[in-house]
Amino acid sequence: MSQKDIGNKIPIYKLKTTDEVMKYYDEWGKKDKYNKDMVDWNYTGPKETVKTLIKYTDNKDILIFDAGCGTGLVGTELKRHGFKNFHGADLSQTLLDSVPENLYQKLDKVDLNQSIKTKDNYYDIVMCVGTFTFGHVKSLALDEFIRITKKGGLICFTINEGIFEDYGFDKKIKDLKENNKWQELEFFKSDYIASKNVNAWLGLFKVQ
Ligand SMILES: C[S@@+](CC[C@H](N)C(=O)[O-])C[C@H]1O[C@@H](n2cnc3c(N)ncnc32)[C@H](O)[C@@H]1O
Repeated sequence: MSQKDIGNKIPIYKLKTTDEVMKYYDEWGKKDKYNKDMVDWNYTGPKETVKTLIKYTDNKDILIFDAGCGTGLVGTELKRHGFKNFHGADLSQTLLDSVPENLYQKLDKVDLNQSIKTKDNYYDIVMCVGTFTFGHVKSLALDEFIRITKKGGLICFTINEGIFEDYGFDKKIKDLKENNKWQELEFFKSDYIASKNVNAWLGLFKVQ
């Protein structure tokens, strides 16, 4: 399937600007609609990424950053697996307001297309699930994720297959490997939203 065809599968994929995307989430986040749709669509991103992550770490005390946490589906999955320390960040206040109380130790409103106000080498792990997609967060954010992750730490993410080349993720991932910024541990096509025939690349990289 061509990248263009995937852009027709889900309404939000048509949006181009951050403002349009945030307005869309203002509606989608109401009355638990986003979470209900994710159940109906059998969205497996959070489960697949955390399942991949736990192959590489059994320390449940490490500090994790969930970039683009939305309503907290990744946090819920991290908690289910026994992780205790995770922070969430997202640009949608509507979605941040719908995160279950006390799930994350810290929640911030952050535009991930800008520099992140976090110290260098701060987190053990960065997760970014469902957020590298049409009109959302661009590949430059990977530089910031590497900066805020400790050396030897992990970055685990999905990239919607429909934007992988068009948004330059293919080139960015290759450049980061060639410049020894990170080392590939996993990179494969995951189910993601198989019910809608939309898959995503799932990557797990070790920061060098
Ligand atoms: C498909 S949702 C995924 C949410 C969550 N990680 C999950 O798996 O359910 C994409 C998220 O990206 C967030 N997002 C979009 N553009 C953003 C930006 N520029 N900065 C921060 N978050 C952004 C949206 O608000 C939304 O929560």
